[in-house]
Amino acid sequence: MLQDYQLLRIPGPTPIPPSVQQAMMKPMTGHREQETKELLNSIRPSLKKIFGTNEEVVIIAGSGTAGLEAAVVNTVSPGEEVLVIVTGSFGDRFAKICKAYNLHVHTLPYEWGSALIPEEISSILVAHPSIKAVFATYCETSTGVLNPIKELATTIKQTSDALVIIDGVSCVGAVETKMDEWGIDICVTGSQKALMLPPGLCFIAGSKKAWNMIEKNHQPRFYLDLRKYHKTIQENTPPFTPALSLLYGLEQSLSILESEGLHQVYKRHQMMKEMTRAAFKAIGIPLLTTDKDASPTVTAIKPDVEPDALRKTLKQEFGLVLAGGQNNLKGQIFRIGHMGYCTPADILQIISCIEIGLRKIGNVQEIGIGVKAAQQAYLQGDGV
Ligand SMILES: Cc1ncc(COP(=O)(O)O)c(C=O)c1O
Repeated sequence: MLQDYQLLRIPGPTPIPPSVQQAMMKPMTGHREQETKELLNSIRPSLKKIFGTNEEVVIIAGSGTAGLEAAVVNTVSPGEEVLVIVTGSFGDRFAKICKAYNLHVHTLPYEWGSALIPEEISSILVAHPSIKAVFATYCETSTGVLNPIKELATTIKQTSDALVIIDGVSCVGAVETKMDEWGIDICVTGSQKALMLPPGLCFIAGSKKAWNMIEKNHQPRFYLDLRKYHKTIQENTPPFTPALSLLYGLEQSLSILESEGLHQVYKRHQMMKEMTRAAFKAIGIPLLTTDKDASPTVTAIKPDVEPDALRKTLKQEFGLVLAGGQNNLKGQIFRIGHMGYCTPADILQIISCIEIGLRKIGNVQEIGIGVKAAQQAYLQGDGV
């Protein structure tokens, strides 16, 4: 195979647009100089739009997990009660972080592949009125589920004063997120998914209520102390040396998203989801989630062949990299990431390669059925 050729279609890291790559090659500037102030000043309003908030979004050099940990360590203290809704591997991670900080953790687990049910949260909050925060995952990357976060936030606000803390790492920037309107108190994302950047940055947006709680919280913290980031971002400066190259890239990726228009970005992701699902339904291979629960950014498929053997074949034949199952779903599914720098044209290519892979290692006789269904789904949509 052609050396260096790769079709990276895992749910992060995702491919990077050439103009973003180029932007990241700019020479360094001083992070206390005017150039950095201007850079942060230009990034801030665009980031707020992505999160649907008028409040500040802070940027930390660290992966998405650093953002999750910052959300925990800044809002609650050891011994306090929290509720973590677990719909897969990343909900599980939130619970592990909470346990690491000696919180009193209640978990509400769901079957992997299903979305949370907002109405089921109320009774737990009523039974445990001391719960200070509820943690949930917007897109559960391990299963391809998009949880109903708007409805969850509404239910929580009706029942309790608990903070609504959301892991939006694998979907913010690809699906609608309206923090202020929906009542989300903290939302976290990472750079390497819908924002079309390399890994290395996390973003944390907070409501007024969240920033008040963060100010008052006495839990010790230093690098992840959000108060430092919140204070300095308002002056367009970072508290520590920032990952400047990634910030140059971020300015460009935000500009790409803005020029497409966020509404259009969400529509494109919706279309890619529909094309992917139509293809596997036509081929006759089960999807892990229902249409209602499915995420526009990642699709999990349960093939009747060994998923890891299929992934190996696709990598060898086409340089196509898909993700496998995690933890409970290891060896049972494969996952296609379709977020960020990805279009319906990519979906046609991915499905076409997968059909050949299935023909080679499975008992699929006729190829082209999936591609045809994806093409039809594209034509049935009103264009993206
Ligand atoms: C939903 C979700 N949360 C958290 C993370 C963790 O992010 P990171 O690997 O950047 O620490 C990921 C990464 O895949 C994710 O998909």
